Amino acid sequence: MRIAVCPGSFDPVTLGHMDIINRASTLFDKVIVLVSVNSSKKYAFTAEERVELLKKVTGNLENVVVESDSGLLADYLKKKNATAIVKGLRAVTDFEYEFQMALTNKKLYPEAETVFLITKSENMYLSSSIVKEIASYGGDIKDFVPEPILDTIKERLVKDK
Ligand code: PNS
Repeated sequence: MRIAVCPGSFDPVTLGHMDIINRASTLFDKVIVLVSVNSSKKYAFTAEERVELLKKVTGNLENVVVESDSGLLADYLKKKNATAIVKGLRAVTDFEYEFQMALTNKKLYPEAETVFLITKSENMYLSSSIVKEIASYGGDIKDFVPEPILDTIKERLVKDK
């Protein structure tokens, strides 16, 4: 069985993430969407909230599960016997950072390959940060996040302001 891990902050999950998760689910037998910790970020949603939001919008995908972990991705891959890390690539600006992570993960756990899926062009400039920024001003984020979690995200982010 080919197991892939799709790691990220997902703070919160966007339509860009959903596109990558959907496509990964057609390429692998099982996809674990992993809410992970990027130590350079401050999160608006707790790990539990991010997992809940992801579960709500991936429930229809039979081979996708959502988990969270606060350790090294390489250790998690080993524990789960995963052979791939799936990441989405947007503009060239993502590249340097993703390149560094892919090489580091390969060093720490050579058994897994990092697979990059190129984003759909309409998601090229979409990010969780942009969603949070717009929502915190009460702006419309319906084109950026999955419909079933739109209200939850809006309520939480406006309240934070
Ligand atoms: O969505 P993000 O913030 O770009 O995702 C980055 C993330 C969470 C995938 C990355 O920071 C990560 O893998 N964190 C887990 C800890 C780890 O393994 N760090 C070393 C990465 S080379």
